[in-house]
Amino acid sequence: MRILHVAGEGLPFIKTGGLADVIGSLPKELARKGNDVRVVMPLYLKIAKNYHQDFTFEKEYAVYMKYDWVPVRLYSCFHDGVTYYFIEHQGYFEREDLYGYMDDGERFAYFQQAVVEMMNQVDFFPEVLHCHDWHTGMISAMIKENHRDDYRYASIKHVYTIHNMAYQGNFGADMLESCLGLPYYLLDNGTVRYDGGISFMKTAILYADKVTTVSPSYASEILTPQYGEHLEGVLQMRQYDLWGIVNGIDVETWNPANDPKIPYHFNKVNVKANKKKNKLALQEEMGLAQDENVMLVGCVSRLTWQKGFYLLMEQLPQLCAMPIQFVVLGSGEGALEEKMAQLEEGNKGKIVFYRGYNEDLAHKIYAACDLFLMPSLFEPCGISQLISMRYGTLPLVRETGGLRDTVTPYNEYDKSGNGFSFTNYNSGEMMHVLGNAVDVFYHHPNDWRTLVRNAMNTDVSWEKSANDYLRLYHELTGN
Ligand code: ADP
Ligand code: GLC
Repeated sequence: MRILHVAGEGLPFIKTGGLADVIGSLPKELARKGNDVRVVMPLYLKIAKNYHQDFTFEKEYAVYMKYDWVPVRLYSCFHDGVTYYFIEHQGYFEREDLYGYMDDGERFAYFQQAVVEMMNQVDFFPEVLHCHDWHTGMISAMIKENHRDDYRYASIKHVYTIHNMAYQGNFGADMLESCLGLPYYLLDNGTVRYDGGISFMKTAILYADKVTTVSPSYASEILTPQYGEHLEGVLQMRQYDLWGIVNGIDVETWNPANDPKIPYHFNKVNVKANKKKNKLALQEEMGLAQDENVMLVGCVSRLTWQKGFYLLMEQLPQLCAMPIQFVVLGSGEGALEEKMAQLEEGNKGKIVFYRGYNEDLAHKIYAACDLFLMPSLFEPCGISQLISMRYGTLPLVRETGGLRDTVTPYNEYDKSGNGFSFTNYNSGEMMHVLGNAVDVFYHHPNDWRTLVRNAMNTDVSWEKSANDYLRLYHELTGN
């Protein structure tokens, strides 16, 4: 089957969060299963710097925007069985960051126009077009409204995956015609309208043939006002076409048995001894007191309200009183970064905070820690808890979205479970469960060992979920 994925980021080329993990691993798995899979994303500055020499120039063409023809240069490369395309526009994409600019609407309108025309230029018309998140939300509308008489476009089936309802791509209505080439009546009749402007996410939900999100629990949560971010009504209209498919991870990149980024490799048999060695190495590197027996708790995360950092802030004095060490790697909201830095200052040797994004350090933290903290307010799927389990690091999570679907809490009676969890967004509940985890770690080491084994035995690969996507694609295309 011919499948084209469209996304704002993807590994190994560029990453800001879990979306890149998904784009770097799901297409690869679909290709491994015998499909012609291609991916397209913008050619950002970091990609240009690191990979340009590996790319082949494909085409130069133009898209009509702001009453003018704007050139597009298209590059490609073949990696892990997948063809990747990159849309080059230096002014729009060769900047320090990927997102967060005043003209994001215009930048990603251009990207989407370039993707639609790319199919014609390279003569690749997928049977399934799979778009991800708000950056790609208008593509189905552009194809279905503007190319309905061209069978090559008209026969495409459209899948749209929501990775996070919190980021919807809402922009001024003026760009509908000028940047996206869509008629104003779509605003007048309400289809693309949101709060006086236009919403990429809402439009995608309405135009896709199937909408998916990244876990079954999140799929039902977003039908409610608590999680729907004001689009719950629109999602309810599509609820019979809404699927929840849990993410997997790239189990080749994330493999403690041969991960080149960690000092001591391990498997299910030697995890106990070698995790301790990794712990000592990390303690030394990060300036924590070296002690192989202390419980090391980790967190690798964007620092945002989504990830439950306010619960942690509320309880830090109590947390510091526990017999644990705490290592946090993250960047994001300024206020949270400041607070974390202050907490580190007041608790030297006990808490260590590394401000920034650091792939190598992330691997070392997953390998060295005993427990991974992820008390999210909401979590569409979550990749970090999956990586943790693969590295024998037990996740402690709030039961929401994909965390609820992937982490089974410790059951002291039958010793089942692959982590710890609590239900309500309440720091007291979190501390209670953390207290439990500390107790099991120090006083019931056999149970802890069983949980680590269970975690490492959990299937976090794409095997099952990629088959679920294929089932969805086949249902749509009828072949
Ligand atoms: P989200 O996409 O909401 O940020 P996920 O759990 O789905 O959350 O994915 C986060 C991914 O980004 C994981 O692979 C995690 O290891 C990685 N990550 C997050 N913050 C950092 C950081 N500061 N440095 C390195 N990797 C990070
Ligand atoms: C989003 C979500 C996260 C999910 C990731 C990949 O960033 O916040 O929960 O794992 O997308 O689907």
